[in-house]
Amino acid sequence: MSTRQRLVPHTASRLRALSLHIAPPGEKINTMKDYLVYLSQAHVGFRRAELESLAEMHGFIADLSGLSEKSPFFVVQLENDEQAAQLIRRSVLSRAIYELWGQGATLDELHADVRHRSAALVSKYRLSSFKFDIVSYQGSRKSREQQLALINSFAYLALDGKIKMKNPDQIFTVLEAYSIVNQEPAPQPDYMYFGREVAVSERSRGVLERHEIAKRPYYGTTTFDAELALVSCNLAQARPGQLIYDPFVGTGSFALAAAHHGALAYGTDIDFRALKGKGPGRRLATNFEKYGTSHLFGDVLCMDFTHNAFRKNLAFDAIVCDPPYGVREGLKVCGTNREERFEGKEKIVIDGQYAYLRRDFIQPKKNYSLDLLLDDLLQFAAERLPVNGRLCFWMPVANDQDIPTLVPQHEKLQLVYNLVQEFNKWSRRLLVYAKRDANYKGTTITSQERGLQNDFRNRYFHKFK
Ligand SMILES: C[S@@+](CC[C@H](N)C(=O)[O-])C[C@H]1O[C@@H](n2cnc3c(N)ncnc32)[C@H](O)[C@@H]1O
Repeated sequence: MSTRQRLVPHTASRLRALSLHIAPPGEKINTMKDYLVYLSQAHVGFRRAELESLAEMHGFIADLSGLSEKSPFFVVQLENDEQAAQLIRRSVLSRAIYELWGQGATLDELHADVRHRSAALVSKYRLSSFKFDIVSYQGSRKSREQQLALINSFAYLALDGKIKMKNPDQIFTVLEAYSIVNQEPAPQPDYMYFGREVAVSERSRGVLERHEIAKRPYYGTTTFDAELALVSCNLAQARPGQLIYDPFVGTGSFALAAAHHGALAYGTDIDFRALKGKGPGRRLATNFEKYGTSHLFGDVLCMDFTHNAFRKNLAFDAIVCDPPYGVREGLKVCGTNREERFEGKEKIVIDGQYAYLRRDFIQPKKNYSLDLLLDDLLQFAAERLPVNGRLCFWMPVANDQDIPTLVPQHEKLQLVYNLVQEFNKWSRRLLVYAKRDANYKGTTITSQERGLQNDFRNRYFHKFK
């Protein structure tokens, strides 16, 4: 365009022509960009819930309709790199996110798409230091020559920056998805992507290796799977500045996971032995020290959840737990089924003090049912959570019965996820509820309605016969 042409005033016809490219007032211009998410193939049924929860926690909605349980890759439209990083950085079930520069079923198709898209993208990174990575999902290892040939085939990008294998400004990645044929990787990938790495996840930064249970100073038979504890705390949207409570804290898997995500963790347990640990250097506090999160270890108290001693107006931002199934640990509450044995005993005085007020008093306990305990848990959450605060807990289910599982519900809490982890004859569900505002009135399903449908403990000990 000549200078003269640029100075031509906007005549009516010229404005009409320009208006073809100007969105009318009120119309939204799509400024979203394509990003490629690379997921882990672990706990595939939990991945969408984790990403949705992380997006919501950061205040945006991501269209995850491209996510399928069969594939570790999907494309999502996001506003910018910051949003992409917010979606993935904390994720446990994802690996990384890339600005998508191209995709295709063959290398030729991939290059055609990269040539087309990169025209608008590459200038920003032309002088950045960089390196190339290759991710071959289910593919066999490439020789050095094959790797170099693949990388060199992108020479047309004309990246002029320095190649730096350590801490480059940008990492450009070729991602390939292979099928397995006769238990061997197919010779050619089914699909290929090319992208600029924006963020890697917690998983890729080694959180699972660091949180390996056997490497903790303190763990026990009830210690919950570290990966799913971290996922649960992502679904609970635990974050800095929040108070997270595990009412059945045991060896503290959820408290540790909540602190890992920056929240202040509190726990209670009826069994003081769990809280005492296994001696010096082998207690809950030592685990927090190991992970450098001692400042996020609120406290743990010995308390029966059903006789809750927290002041009535103490609110928690989220509640995450694994209630006692009565299998590896007792499901007990304070009280007795044999009132007559204790009649008048509250009057016993030792050394001028009521016996039941002494530090060495051991409270009688009675058995209780998991179903009733879950009613109590939902009621507690309905009273103590802020609007949109989440309750996440794991519920065991004997899945050999041909009847749909009725999950507990409370009218003040909306069930947002019901996620299943299958085992051989049983499964456990991660149930996630959000407290809604005063206008919300949802369904109520109490233990009475659920009846004895899920008498898990009995069925477990009778081998689900
Ligand atoms: C399944 S375990 C939780 C394990 C824990 N998530 C961990 O990582 O070790 C259930 C815990 O609930 C405790 N518990 C049982 N009845 C309780 C009650 N009424 N109030 C509080 N804790 C109780 C048990 O002592 C046990 O430690």
